[in-house]
Amino acid sequence: MPETPELDPNNIPKHVAIIMDGNGRWAQSRGLMRLMGHKAGVESVKKIVRAADELGISILTVYAFSTENWKRPPLEVKTLMGLLQSYLESELADLVKNNVSLRCIGEKEKLPDAPRQVLEKVIATTAENTGLILNLALSYGSRSEIIMAVKKLAEDCVSGRLQPDDITENLFSQHLYTGGLHDPDLVIRTGGESRLSNFLLWQASYSEIYITETKWPDFDRLQLIEAIYNYQQRQRRFGKTGEQVK
Ligand code: IPE
Ligand code: IPE
Ligand code: MG
Repeated sequence: MPETPELDPNNIPKHVAIIMDGNGRWAQSRGLMRLMGHKAGVESVKKIVRAADELGISILTVYAFSTENWKRPPLEVKTLMGLLQSYLESELADLVKNNVSLRCIGEKEKLPDAPRQVLEKVIATTAENTGLILNLALSYGSRSEIIMAVKKLAEDCVSGRLQPDDITENLFSQHLYTGGLHDPDLVIRTGGESRLSNFLLWQASYSEIYITETKWPDFDRLQLIEAIYNYQQRQRRFGKTGEQVK
């Protein structure tokens, strides 16, 4: 592969979703506390948001905290929530300047008051922005998201607003946190694990998956370009034959 791969500007993935993993191991391999890895990880988020915007990506979803991550030691959870709050406070001006629209997928209501209030403020302040959509997956779990959608549809059926036969893939998608958003074209996982960890199970049905050993704090603009270059070498067949999609 060339030093900085030359990307095809006509085949930039519209929606890139990233499982930002490896912060803890990054820190531990340096003899640091795991928390330092999360701190370094925030710097990566800032860089990758800027790079995604410059590369012409329309939607960037980042998995920042899963429904399962609540089971981590209380101090680690507290630190992550504090980092979320300070990230949002320090980035608001830049997000506004760069026309980024910040959204959240996940159980926002489960977040502690202070970060939740800042989150609401940033979402409201950037709601009309027309540039990059930055989707933060916070207290996000795909299974609970699917159950939430099923419950809403079931309620609509019970009340007679909806008939079971009217439930289509499209209608179901509209009831997910990502309703209205294009499915991810590319899912990147840093930190080397080959699993989805309850991330966008429905939405990633036909996403291209790219796994890198690089731990999240070391993931930079060049690595993002390499992931997109790798994506651009693939043929997305969606069940058809290679000849059919040529
Ligand atoms: C990802 O890094 C950040 C979150 C899950 C919040 P980890 O903290 O999972 O890092 P590793 O996987 O232990 O190295
Ligand atoms: C996935 O990473 C969740 C986030 C990146 C926020 P984890 O570190 O929690 O995943 P597992 O537990 O190793 O599958
Ligand atoms: Mg991990």
